[in-house]
Amino acid sequence: MVLETVVVAIWAMLPAYIPNNVAVLAGGGRPIDGGRTLDDGTRILGDGKTWRGTAFGTVAGIAVALALNQIHPFVSDIVVAEPFPIAAAVSLAFGAMLGDILASFLKRRTGRQRGAAFPGIDQLDFVVVALLLTAIVATGWFLETFTLPVIVAVLILTPLLHLSTNAIAYALGLKDEPW
Ligand code: CTP
Ligand code: MG
Repeated sequence: MVLETVVVAIWAMLPAYIPNNVAVLAGGGRPIDGGRTLDDGTRILGDGKTWRGTAFGTVAGIAVALALNQIHPFVSDIVVAEPFPIAAAVSLAFGAMLGDILASFLKRRTGRQRGAAFPGIDQLDFVVVALLLTAIVATGWFLETFTLPVIVAVLILTPLLHLSTNAIAYALGLKDEPW
């Protein structure tokens, strides 16, 4: 059923959706690359990837997974998925942050300034890495939860959710660009 698939897709991806948004709110301070540049003369990652944003984002994503596990018994009729194993909670949250960081690395290598849009990559970087990492560290749960229809739903819904939350964050003045 389509609705069931969509519900599982959003539920299972929430621990990966939250980190980037929390990083926007919590970001600042020392950049991960420490200000260093590569031979190409541009920053390794840039000032937009900070230790604080990454740490708060990861912890927030894990906390969301644990909170969903607490709610799970009451909604298990609607959400047809097993609770998040701790390994999956960590890999979804940290994988999302890592995907975003890798995308910034790619952006800098392709000459894009901090904040520049990278269509496609901006919307899906964190999904791909969060899912890959989860497939590795929580394989059983991953295969049970992310069936092919759920993955298709994730790939369709994520860019839409990402664009709308970022547009809201921009309108509220929390983010410098609407992407
Ligand atoms: N942020 C952070 N640490 C992260 C990710 C994000 O501190 N790991 C914060 C930064 O303050 C960043 C803001 O969230 O400026 C918006 O994130 P994002 O759009 O990913 O970064 P950009 O500043 O646009 O930089 P980039 O071009 O590298 O994506
Ligand atoms: Mg950006």
